[in-house]
This record gives sequence, structure tokens and C-alpha cells, in this order.
Amino acid sequence: MYVQSVFVKNYRNLKEQTVVLKNGLNVFCGLNAQGKTNFLECLVLSSLGKTPKSDKDRDIINWNEKSATIKTNVCTVNTKSQIEIKLTKGEKKRVATNGMPIAKIGELLGWLNVIYFSPAEIDVIREGPDERRRFMDIDLCQTDKNYFYTLGRYNKILNQRNNLIKKENNNKNLAEMLSIWDRQLAKEGAKLFLKRLDFIQKISPVACEIHKHLTSGKECLDVVYQSEMQGTTKQEAEEFLAKKLADTFEKQQKLGFTTSGVHRDDIKFAIDGVDIRKFGSQGQQRTAALALKLAEVKLLHDTVGEYPVLLLDDVFSEIDETRQKQLLKYTKNIQTIIATPKFDKSLTGGIPFNSFEVSNGEIKQI
Ligand SMILES: Nc1ncnc2c1ncn2[C@@H]1O[C@H](COP(=O)(O)OP(=O)(O)OP(=O)(O)O)[C@@H](O)[C@H]1O
Ligand SMILES: [Mg+2]
Repeated sequence: MYVQSVFVKNYRNLKEQTVVLKNGLNVFCGLNAQGKTNFLECLVLSSLGKTPKSDKDRDIINWNEKSATIKTNVCTVNTKSQIEIKLTKGEKKRVATNGMPIAKIGELLGWLNVIYFSPAEIDVIREGPDERRRFMDIDLCQTDKNYFYTLGRYNKILNQRNNLIKKENNNKNLAEMLSIWDRQLAKEGAKLFLKRLDFIQKISPVACEIHKHLTSGKECLDVVYQSEMQGTTKQEAEEFLAKKLADTFEKQQKLGFTTSGVHRDDIKFAIDGVDIRKFGSQGQQRTAALALKLAEVKLLHDTVGEYPVLLLDDVFSEIDETRQKQLLKYTKNIQTIIATPKFDKSLTGGIPFNSFEVSNGEIKQI
């Protein structure tokens, strides 16, 4: 799929304008703080109903205005559609697809698939396990509505259970009270575990292949899902999770929250057997994060039948020229939108592209 055009008004510093895009490579250049990232963010918002950092609506509406609008026209092989998002200070976000309001954000997923890569994406490799679970969750939610709803239920039960541990911490019946939630948490947890495991098993060989391409065959990336439930069936996973919750009751009571479950799982990244979280160079970590994102592009294509739109924000920092060239070669059949202070034309190897200048919130094709 590709974005044909975007109408934007009062989104952060962006002026009221329509930006027409190419179904191919689009390069947005400009000095710092001009609105390049803001434009990419608009597309993430149109796709997921939230910004990459889940900002509050009032922070993304222009400071001097009351409301912001984004209308995104999306083309797939067979369809044309429009996603409209209207944000008003003090009101609920309004989202419509083809003029029809939608009630739940879950209904927006799938109208526009994007994969967003920003400098912060390196956190998937470098930071704590939260970031890695968030990466799996975002991707799975885009392709699997059941996953989206299961995750919602899991988090709701987890919150209720955690509140109970805090509120009734001294209650002698706490263990019994918690057991009501445990079965449900274990049931939803086992579903999430199996889907995540399947996702990592699918993405790992693809990321490895792409990583080889980006590093010109010099390095080999391995991605492994780490969970205590490796090799279990759904039933076994459910029982394991429930038992673990019961067995660790005292620890949970002492610490005041649920200490076990799929919200504690992790992913390991290794290059030639070395854990790059601990021992990778900046460039190695960034290349691995990029390979992972590009693997998501391929998996989304395999699941949905269409490539998502690839948004690359400041992607060239820290990766060498050879890797930059390999990256652009890889994006050949995918609508790609790059935001960068400077762009070296020679990187494209002659691929035609549309060039935009971003200055003080105004985007002009040049
Ligand atoms: N709600 C808002 N209203 C008005 N301006 C805002 C709002 N939120 C952020 N901005 C401003 O938008 C400007 C542009 O931000 P953006 O992140 O898009 O820059 P950029 O072109 O990507 O720069 P860089 O090259 O440094 O990444 C910033 O100066 C920021 O202060
Ligand atoms: Mg930026």
C-alpha cells in the first residue's frame, strides 16, 4: 500500500497544507526542528491512532490552536481510502475511515500499515525488556486483531490484580482473592506467549537474511525469544503461568506487584554468537534494529499481501555508507519516506525519488 497524499493542519508546528507523495522513495530534508519528524509522526498516528511516544493529544495539537486535523489518502492494489483524524483540546479524539466514524482504535488497524524507524528504535536492542515487548506488541497488533484484544484483556487483568495486591496487601485472604484473577491472567498470557514465540521464530530468519544483506555478508544476526515456557503447548503454558503465580505469592505480596508472567519475557539479539545488547558497537546495534524493522516490513507483506509504508527518521546516523546504500537498495519496492537533515543523491544508485524541503513547518516539493 502507499500514501498518495496527506492533508495536515495544526499538527505540532506543521502549517496547513497538502503533501502529495510518490509511490516510491520520498526524501524530506531540512535543518533541525523544522517539522520532518512531525510529518512522519502524522502517518504513524493515522496508522495506529497514537504517536510513537504515545503523546497526549493536547501536546500534539499546535500550541496556539484548539484543534488539529490529518487526512491521509491511502491506496492499495484494489482500494482507495481516507483516514481522518481530528484532535480537539479537551475532547476525545475523532477518527473516521472513508467518512465513517470508528468507535474503537482497534477498528483503525489495517487501513494503513506503517513501519517507523527512528533513532530511538535502537532502544529495542539497548534498553530494558519493556522496549522489546513493545516492539512485538506493536507489530502483532497491526497484523492480528485477536492479539490486540488479548493484549488489552491481559493488561486490564494485570492492572486489577496489581491494584488488589497493593490495596489488600495485609489481608490474610489475599492469596485466595488473587487466585480468581490468576486463571484468567494465565489463559490470556499463554495466548500472548504462543503468538509472540511464533512471531519471533518467523522474524528471526528474515532479519538474519536482511542483516546479511545490510552488512554485505559480514555478520550473522540471531534473534531468540526468551521465556521460561519454551517448548510448551498452550495448555502447559497456561498451567505453568498459573502455578508460577501461586508459587511466587509471597514475593508478590512483599514487592507489591505481579512478578511473573509474559509481561516479563524478553528477546535476545546476538551477532556471531555475541550478545549485542552488552557487547555490540553503536553501528552494530543500529544495523540490527534496522534489520529487524525491515524484517517486519517483509512479514507484514507476507501476512497482509501488501507492503507497509516505511518511515525512516534520521536513519543514516551511525551506519556507514555501504550499509546506507544496501538499505536503499532493499527499499526498492516499498513506499519509503526518509527524513534527514542532508541527503547524498549518490546513495540511491540512480533510483528516482521525490525530494521535499521542510522549513518552519512548511513542506515544499523541490
Ligand atoms: N504542539 C506543538 N505545537 C507547535 N510546535 C511544536 C509542538 N510540538 C512540537 N513542536 C515543535 O516542532 C518543531 C519541529 O520538530 P521536529 O521533531 O519535526 O523537527 P525535525 O525537523 O525532525 O528536526 P531534527 O532534524 O532535529 O530531527 C520543534 O521545534 C518542536 O518544538
Ligand atoms: Mg527529527
